[in-house]
Amino acid sequence: MPSMELLGRSFLQAAGSASTAAPRGGRERAGGGLCFASLGGRQGRPSRRTVRSKVPVGALAERVVLTPAPAERVARPEAHPQSVAARAVVTVRRKRKVEVKEQVAEQMDAYADRVGRSVLLELISTETDPRKGGPKKSKKSRLVGWFEKREVKAELVVYTAEFTVDAAFGEPGAVTVLNRHQREFFIESILVEGFPSGPAHFTCNSWVQPTRVDPAPRVFFTNKPYLPSKTPPGLRELRRRELKELRGSGTGVRKTTDRAYDYDVYNDLGNPDKGAGFERPVLGGDKLPYPRRMRTARPSTVTDEGAESRVEYPEPIYVSRDEEFEEGKNEMLSEGAIKALLHNFMPLLVSSVSPDSRDFAGFHDVDNLFKEGLRLKQALHDQLFQKIPFVRKIQESSEGLLRYDTPDIIKKDKFAWLRDDEFARQALAGINPVNIERLQVFPPVSKLDPAVYGPPESAITEEHIIGNLDGMSVQQALEENKLYMLDYHDIFMPFLDRINSLDGRKAYGTRTLFFLTAGGTLKPIAIELCLPPMTDDCKRAKRVFTPPADATNIWLWQLAKAHVCSNDAGVHQLINHWLRTHACMEPFIIAAHRQMSAMHPIFKLLKPHMRYTLKINALARQILINGDGVIESGFTPGRYCMEMSSFAYDNLWRLDQEGLPADLIRRGMAVEDASQPHGLRLLIEDYPYATDGLLLWSAIARWCEAYVTAYYPSDEAVQDDYELQSWYTEAVQVGHPDKCDAPWWPRLTTAGDLASVLTTLVWLCSAQHAALNFGQYPLGGYIPNRPPLMRRLVPAESDPEYEHLVADPHRFYLSALPSLTQTTTFMTVIDTLSTHSADEQYLGERPNEEWTADPAALAAAREFAAEVRRAEEEIERRNADPARRNRCGAGVLPYELMAPSSGPGITCRGVPNSVTI
Ligand SMILES: [Fe+2]
Repeated sequence: MPSMELLGRSFLQAAGSASTAAPRGGRERAGGGLCFASLGGRQGRPSRRTVRSKVPVGALAERVVLTPAPAERVARPEAHPQSVAARAVVTVRRKRKVEVKEQVAEQMDAYADRVGRSVLLELISTETDPRKGGPKKSKKSRLVGWFEKREVKAELVVYTAEFTVDAAFGEPGAVTVLNRHQREFFIESILVEGFPSGPAHFTCNSWVQPTRVDPAPRVFFTNKPYLPSKTPPGLRELRRRELKELRGSGTGVRKTTDRAYDYDVYNDLGNPDKGAGFERPVLGGDKLPYPRRMRTARPSTVTDEGAESRVEYPEPIYVSRDEEFEEGKNEMLSEGAIKALLHNFMPLLVSSVSPDSRDFAGFHDVDNLFKEGLRLKQALHDQLFQKIPFVRKIQESSEGLLRYDTPDIIKKDKFAWLRDDEFARQALAGINPVNIERLQVFPPVSKLDPAVYGPPESAITEEHIIGNLDGMSVQQALEENKLYMLDYHDIFMPFLDRINSLDGRKAYGTRTLFFLTAGGTLKPIAIELCLPPMTDDCKRAKRVFTPPADATNIWLWQLAKAHVCSNDAGVHQLINHWLRTHACMEPFIIAAHRQMSAMHPIFKLLKPHMRYTLKINALARQILINGDGVIESGFTPGRYCMEMSSFAYDNLWRLDQEGLPADLIRRGMAVEDASQPHGLRLLIEDYPYATDGLLLWSAIARWCEAYVTAYYPSDEAVQDDYELQSWYTEAVQVGHPDKCDAPWWPRLTTAGDLASVLTTLVWLCSAQHAALNFGQYPLGGYIPNRPPLMRRLVPAESDPEYEHLVADPHRFYLSALPSLTQTTTFMTVIDTLSTHSADEQYLGERPNEEWTADPAALAAAREFAAEVRRAEEEIERRNADPARRNRCGAGVLPYELMAPSSGPGITCRGVPNSVTI
């Protein structure tokens, strides 16, 4: 068999598996059963004690053959060993695709390694050396195999380093790595074998910079969790020093090789040097409160000292080195970027040849995006090819990428989106199921200042809705919890003057009332479209539409629904999705890295829920939420998008109401009820987001509680944990400083408080984000279903536009929606945003069990994973239950956004552990 190697064999002390063999001199070549033993011998002659482990722990991705240990090699333990022979097995992850330049550098490192510029490892004991004061340390040992394995073609390559330490060394608690190569490399894990205490695992997943970049050795800690007060003496100073390093100095421009985590305001969204149209206000501070973001500290712009200069995609934007995407994730995004380029390039070409095609001429044009892709009509083809010959080449070589996937919303029922029941169903089971609320007062009332915005009462009267209440009075319907509402009045109203003065942007502040039918579905019964009194004559400031009975009114009603969807799409993207998951989590992630050691049990719990978030948020600042970026161009509020997000943060966001039960109660969708499984009763029983969400919420809550209880036997233990307290305090006071004085912040004084805060954070990073993120293309990819942007108001009979509507309602309707270019740009972006990459890690999953050495934590994690799987089975059952009409029925999409598992791609399901996209 070719290139067989035995690497990382371990014959270790393991419970109940001891056996013996004759002593042997010298170390053996791998392949014959390498042993790690206590080296004893009074005459200095080495003898071995080897005990074989049940599981070969060091074998990884290289081709590895595991053979049983020959019996004669298993040695009898020495009674009083004087030294320990240990080995570190270091697993390094190599890039799958290496450019020629990198290949050359790699080879140079391999040759330099051979002549002495090698990687050095050092073991650090958990014990201190009483003579020297610091921790006991091994001699530095060279990592072996770099030269020999320079041609190995594997993603994971294993190298080893050998150590001999005093028998009184104690247990290894840390390993330092000094990289004397020219290039950084990525260590996935280190396994130290040979100590009587058993194998020690070090989960690293980290880039180690060469000494020319960082002269200090990197420290990796054991996977044994330690509260700060229980840190073994040998590791205390290292623990403190490592955190200091991660906090950084708070000064200087960040380099891509840095590891520091720090905070800053959002002062890099605009680009004032490009001109006045590109200035954007700073988010964060008294004027526009906002959570803080990762500090990048680039120089300020020339025009405005308060604005940080931008770095444009694909130039790298700083995040701590280990926050960068792994290779698979980068590939997925670059494919998305190519798609974006092609998808936007073609419509631009089309419009350059034929200016009339900026709008959709009819619904067939929208459909053609999915049938034909952007392949062009023959006449246009010929015209284009004449003008720009390379178009044919692009078209031929990238046909697959040019065609848009058919969004799920039109796969099963092409016309569902037109119907009122589907419009209402999406408020409960669509991609923004978190704004529907129970109507508790009629008519609905605004909280805005009447002096500025006029009378607070809605213009919807009893007469508008009484015919749609199944014979009930309004009062009865209220009392029986039959009336529900989507209320976007107050969030849009303060911005409408500015939005509506933008070119090609038109919005209302909308209110939509729904009636809960006997079948458990909602039906819309009134839509109110409001404009600020000063922008229009007062009588048109509030218009009420009701379900229509004639053709013209049907189209007016459709336009009103489109405006509701556009409001809904804006609130979904800017507030529920971006602000409440991506942006509000960032300070908790930054603070966790700055204040809690990798050994801290709570850091270990949170680790998978922080994966990729800082990087995706940095990318969002580069291309999505920046001035003139995708969000501004795609959503009606345009350049005011982020100010709206700030307005919502200032007025609405509070962490204590971000957990699912609290949120459902706040919106009146549930009432507390101790007799019910989750302690609350839903007022709409078939509310797929809530019912499935509660399954996952409960699983997360139980897991966090079990985990916290294992480490904090008392409330004092929580209060005395200074790393934990520093994390939370800093996340609130430095990460959310604009709201830090609010009285509602959850306290962190009891174990119950801690479990509750962790449950909320894990929920937001995983299930809540997934529910809001992965349906974007499947439901929003068909623009008429959910136009993110509106270009026309709804015409009144006296308007000249009214005639156009009557003359050609399809064309008029489509002309109110985004243009072809706006549509394709938006579709391309949400296509990427809805995609799971191949390296996604889903709720309940960890890549391996080496993340902790605590068997109780592992057992609890397995129980959590099992509960998540049970939730998935239950979700499957629900989707097949015809009584649940909001997720099952003729052409109805199942609700799978909370189904935890998924394959890669756009699947409209799958709950990753963290905000990864
Ligand atoms: Fe997202």
